[in-house]
Amino acid sequence: MKPLVPLILLAFLIGCQDSKKSSYAIESTYQEEHPGKVLMERQCNVCHSPTASHEQRLAPPMIAVKKHYVAAHTNKAEFVEDIQNWFDNQTEDNARMYGAVRRFGVMPKLLVSKEDLKQISDYIFDYDIEKPVWFDEHYNEEKRKGFPMRNGKQI
Ligand code: HEC
Repeated sequence: MKPLVPLILLAFLIGCQDSKKSSYAIESTYQEEHPGKVLMERQCNVCHSPTASHEQRLAPPMIAVKKHYVAAHTNKAEFVEDIQNWFDNQTEDNARMYGAVRRFGVMPKLLVSKEDLKQISDYIFDYDIEKPVWFDEHYNEEKRKGFPMRNGKQI
């Protein structure tokens, strides 16, 4: 019986690889990824990760950034401009996420081209971006407390 075990294992591994491949193929025929999504995952999510735990994260998840920058009346052009403004003037005074600045410090300066940043902003504005599992509960709790404000900024 013994010599059969590696064979069965091998068959199992090959089987797994095959099923992975075919599911990728199906996904790619259904939707092209937004270029902003890819750029965001590469350039922002190291810190703004949607999967880091509440304790281990290095920055607020991007969905929290979106909620601070997009109000009911905000249109896409304004949002894109506001994000670009943040990248042009990253100071404590210009920050809207005061609580995050206190916890993590002001976001470090990054080299991101205007074109890439626009793509990223487009994607964030238009799509339901991924959010951490803890996010809704945390957000509702903050909302229940009434988002404490100081000088017009959330603290
Ligand atoms: C090296 C870590 C890091 C990377 C990479 C990073 N950020 Fe941040 N970002 C932070 C931290 C920390 C904060 C919270 C402190 C703050 O608001 O400045 C933040 C806050 C922000 C804010 C809110 C600023 C405010 O307070 O008004 C925006 C907008 C933002 N990030 C956009 C981005 C985008 C877009 C990218 C990718 C192109 C990105 N960040 C990449 C660390 C990072």
